[in-house]
Amino acid sequence: MTKSGDYKIIQHSYDVVIVGAGGAGLRATLGMAAAGLSTACISKVFPTRSHTVAAQGGMSAALANMGEDHWKWHMYDTVKGSDWLGDQDAIEYMCREAVPAVIELEHYGVPFSRTDDGKIYQRPFGGMTTHYGEGVAQRTCAAADRTGHAILHTLYQQSLKQGAEFFIEYFATDLLMDEGVCRGVMAWDLTRGELHCFRGHQVILATGGSGRVFFSATSAHTCTGDGSAMVLRAGLPLQDMEFVQFHPTGVYGAGVLITEGVRGEGGYLTNADGERFMERYAPNAKDLASRDVVSRAMTMEINAGRGVGSEKDHIYLNLMHLGQEVIHERLPGIAESARIFAGVDVTREPIPVLPTVHYNMGGIPTNHNGEVVTLQGDDPDTVVPGLMAIGECACVSVHGANRLGSNSLLDIIVFGRAAALRAAQIVTPGAPHPDLPEAVFENVLQRFDRTRHASGSVPTAQIREAMQRTMQRYAAVFRTGASLQTGVETMQQVFDSFAEVGITDRGLQWNTDLLETLELENLLAQAQSIIAGALNREETRGGHAREDFPERDDAHWMKHTLAWVDVQGKVRFDYRPVHLYTLTDDCEVIPPKKRVY
Ligand code: FUM
Repeated sequence: MTKSGDYKIIQHSYDVVIVGAGGAGLRATLGMAAAGLSTACISKVFPTRSHTVAAQGGMSAALANMGEDHWKWHMYDTVKGSDWLGDQDAIEYMCREAVPAVIELEHYGVPFSRTDDGKIYQRPFGGMTTHYGEGVAQRTCAAADRTGHAILHTLYQQSLKQGAEFFIEYFATDLLMDEGVCRGVMAWDLTRGELHCFRGHQVILATGGSGRVFFSATSAHTCTGDGSAMVLRAGLPLQDMEFVQFHPTGVYGAGVLITEGVRGEGGYLTNADGERFMERYAPNAKDLASRDVVSRAMTMEINAGRGVGSEKDHIYLNLMHLGQEVIHERLPGIAESARIFAGVDVTREPIPVLPTVHYNMGGIPTNHNGEVVTLQGDDPDTVVPGLMAIGECACVSVHGANRLGSNSLLDIIVFGRAAALRAAQIVTPGAPHPDLPEAVFENVLQRFDRTRHASGSVPTAQIREAMQRTMQRYAAVFRTGASLQTGVETMQQVFDSFAEVGITDRGLQWNTDLLETLELENLLAQAQSIIAGALNREETRGGHAREDFPERDDAHWMKHTLAWVDVQGKVRFDYRPVHLYTLTDDCEVIPPKKRVY
């Protein structure tokens, strides 16, 4: 085995270092470079291949281009959608800033679809209303059904224009923490096989979610929660990890996303009787109820024997009646996906769909400036110096227990921008970096080297599949204490089996064996936090539905879970209060009530 001291490390110094080049990472990169900070962006994939490219339906903002709208209605919908677990100060910030943030994107060159009078086209999406729940809002700004693709390409080009430096196909392995301060990040250049130390006065994690903890997910295979795992290894907690969103319409058997925009454009779900069953579950919003409500209704229909197909185990999504012109102009991408992944011509047949893991509401706790926070003594909002997190890897918390569709592209843009504004305030361009003790590097290199030389008898793929099947089975749309208990015990065995992992390639250049094993290590820690958190939270709220605790319990559970996961996979919990206050006096707190759609 190579001693860790044998690794040659290439040193870099920047004002700020962003890890991840999806929408959040690129928006932060662009803003920080434009503010005159020397900016490095590290990405394990080429930026325009980041998972944001798969975002289809759009980005919410109360522009009122296609009917009346107001950011306060958007705020109300988001708080209600979050099942009152969202922090209302952060939600106020996001919904208010949505408007300038989307106009800015338009000016950067995002090719949004247009109305006849040339404004940005906006479609209805689940849970988005006018007049505090009275009407249907057309709030979701779309570039056909390829909105993420359009945003990602524009932001990458603009970041290059501002002189940001990109380190592409570099895999960040660990934070460099010294006495509680983040001083940089270690990364492995996948192509050349070298190790690099990136020093930054702020490290901004924008590494996305960990959907690949589950067997069937709309997330890319690269969504392995690398930043969140680095945070756990640094001894910091993740927040609200038990809340995992199932998107109602993943293609049956393939998991590929079919945008909620289909239902926004007038598509609807039917069961084996041809019934539009959402009318029973959500008489007002029907197919445009929030995702947790629709996913649960679909699951109940299947469980009641009213699923479609020979196994009666899925549901139909109908859009034939929309006509060729609407499908061609507004939904060309999903027409192609349905053809490729389900063999369906959407102008003639319904798409077979099933609720599929889509999004982590939980993540690295932050304030609305993107700064990572932790619980220290009595202070639940202690800022971790030098560390920020944005996008799906973060938990601001604007989505609480359930995210509304099209609030994710919004989140990544608004908080990518917010992080850049904050960094411009607190980082002095060109300030020198303090020396770091050897021990900081030693710990990080030892872990890397241990995994590189892992010589056990269990292949990475076997452990990964065991994890994914366990999570899919025991942390599903409906959960009970008994099955979660079994899930926690099974996941602990899976976690422990990583001690026996073996890889065969010891090289450093394009060693996908090692890369996938490091990613698996990241996923395992997050699986532990999700399933243990789900057992711990004894209530039903948003995306977390406990059959044994079917009601929301504000008296005991209106609080954010904090979870620390140690090297043995043991999870420790504590809590942070939900922010039931606004940021400014421009709006009022939205008091908790029962959600009705
Ligand atoms: O359905 C969709 O287009 C997904 C959007 C989202 O998750 O925000």
